[in-house]
Amino acid sequence: MSLLLAPYTLRHLTLPNRIAVSPMCQYSSVDGLANDWHLVHLGSRAVGGAGLVFTEATAVTADGRITAQDLGLWNDAQIAPLQRITRFITAQGAVPGIQLAHAGRKASTYRPWLGKQGSIKPADGGWTPIGPSSIAFDPQHTAPIEMTKAQIDEVIQAFVDAAHRALNAGFKVVEVHAAHGYLLHQFLSPLSNQRRDEYGSCFENRIRLTLQVTEAVRNVWPEELPVFVRLSATDWVEDGWNPDETVALAKRLRALGVDLIDVSSGGTSVNAEIPTGPGYQTRFAAKVREESGIATGTVGMITEPMQAETILRTAQADIIFLARELLRDPYWPLHADDDLGGNKATWPAQYQRATSRANPIHESDLRD
Ligand SMILES: Cc1cc2nc3c(=O)[nH]c(=O)nc-3n(C[C@H](O)[C@H](O)[C@H](O)COP(=O)(O)O)c2cc1C
Repeated sequence: MSLLLAPYTLRHLTLPNRIAVSPMCQYSSVDGLANDWHLVHLGSRAVGGAGLVFTEATAVTADGRITAQDLGLWNDAQIAPLQRITRFITAQGAVPGIQLAHAGRKASTYRPWLGKQGSIKPADGGWTPIGPSSIAFDPQHTAPIEMTKAQIDEVIQAFVDAAHRALNAGFKVVEVHAAHGYLLHQFLSPLSNQRRDEYGSCFENRIRLTLQVTEAVRNVWPEELPVFVRLSATDWVEDGWNPDETVALAKRLRALGVDLIDVSSGGTSVNAEIPTGPGYQTRFAAKVREESGIATGTVGMITEPMQAETILRTAQADIIFLARELLRDPYWPLHADDDLGGNKATWPAQYQRATSRANPIHESDLRD
């Protein structure tokens, strides 16, 4: 019996398997609105058999967008187009999840495929970002405006309002994005946070905003549904945020009612040296799981069904997040079911004659 393909229950929500579509920015929205691209992109992964389908980082404020084309949930008009998507995902037997985010000092940039680095300046249609301290991500990025206490309160409220809207849109899992060098991670890391008030310097102060946002989101998210937080376990830079701090924060988040830490890494510093390779971040998920007692998700160069299955069997993580591999092959979960001699995941009725490569149906059945 495959663990990867077996159902997994968190609170009162049962995922049909342990494969999650990792959040992936599509940079394809106008005014933060989901559109046909998002429906087909996310819908295809649900048809392909992923148990949990996450949206991309969805901005809680307009100035919290990485690019002007990010998906957003800062106004009510943005709910209905997402409802259409959650309805479709749910009809495929998958669970819709949403990642809520604020880009902080990494806001107002170009879509990656344009090949242009750094910030778009206000004169060119961009905006000046906000952040914990006025320290630019790199010389090509604009230095952010150091946030006042009132601006911090506004961001917390924006996460709460977006969570409300996400619930109305039909999402069942909400993930707070506190990784990859975006706003909450910028507060966590001493590299980007040099504040002298209650949000800076010591560990307790640097984690304050992530705890406040998460607690506020947990308070509006129904008791029976899970809340995830994505953390970067390390900045991969000396004197940056580190794995032991991640474990300590995970314990605090667990106490607030967070159900799972989605463990990634990096994103705060351009000087990070990241030793990539198959499953290169999984040891961090294992560490957080073992030392803080919370469920974890792992992500990063997981491409083979047996690799994913082994991670689960060796209790290093509870959910497998896949990003690029699901872009290459939306049907990866259905093939994995085949490969692992699985739990008979069901192909959509419309596709059933394609089902198994190993056991193709009789050719004479293909003459309609
Ligand atoms: C196109 C693309 C967009 C991404 N956007 C996001 C995002 O919105 N939020 C996030 O947390 N990570 C984002 N990531 C990172 C992925 O979720 C994942 O952590 C990373 O790609 C490593 O997993 P992989 O090796 O399976 O691709 C993105 C990755 C890709 C390839």
